[in-house]
Amino acid sequence: MDSPPQRGILAYFVDNHSPLYIYPMNGYLITPTPNTQTNVMKLFLDTAEVKDIEDRIHTGLISGITTNPTLIKKSGRDPWKVYTDIIELGVEDLSIEVMGESSSDLISNGMNVNQNYGNVATVKLPCTIEGLKACKHLTNIGIRVNMTLVFSVSQALLCGLAGATYVSPFIGRMDDNSLDGIKLINDISNIYASNQVNTQVLAASVRDVQSVGVAFGVGADICTIPPKVFDNMANHALTDVGLEQFNRDFLA
Ligand code: G3P
Repeated sequence: MDSPPQRGILAYFVDNHSPLYIYPMNGYLITPTPNTQTNVMKLFLDTAEVKDIEDRIHTGLISGITTNPTLIKKSGRDPWKVYTDIIELGVEDLSIEVMGESSSDLISNGMNVNQNYGNVATVKLPCTIEGLKACKHLTNIGIRVNMTLVFSVSQALLCGLAGATYVSPFIGRMDDNSLDGIKLINDISNIYASNQVNTQVLAASVRDVQSVGVAFGVGADICTIPPKVFDNMANHALTDVGLEQFNRDFLA
């Protein structure tokens, strides 16, 4: 039998074989499927500000960068120069969003990104029928795809069938609209695990520290977070107070 997860309360047995674990998280009862897959937790930064990446990449804690057209516009810079600068910092996985009405536009723009930046580039595509067709094609020729703007389990299922490397549910935007972003991460993670889908769940539109822990707790493989959230993850008022006292006592 699978090893039980570390946390959660064993509630009852379903079909006499599978234990059901209830997780009190985020005010909801969530029931992850116990699985034996080893997830390697990763953090990406969600920004197009090169300086913000430069200041943090050397921590060795950041495994990739995600961008989108809005973040590029905010940077006020030429997108291609932004991507080149980010790659020159040694980033190994950079999501670059491509635009286009048809799957053929998306495919040719995705291939262009791949030709310019090689294996560092992950092509980011919208979760539409045209985007899914393009995902299937690019994946088949060995190009990594991040399916973005995902808001439902059914969209995530199609992303898995299309072979996406990453699926990006936008949890903050769901919460903005009174939808439960964390529950969506949990549902997708369970369905992928029980169907052996290799697509990784990349929690996006994450705006606070607490959501990072909860998203990983319910099965996210990766969280992409703004630089400020990354900084806040390391900070705690009690660490500051305790350190101040240790410094005083050390010098006394
Ligand atoms: O990764 C997607 C992210 O950039 C969207 O975040 O805060 O605009 O919903 P937000």
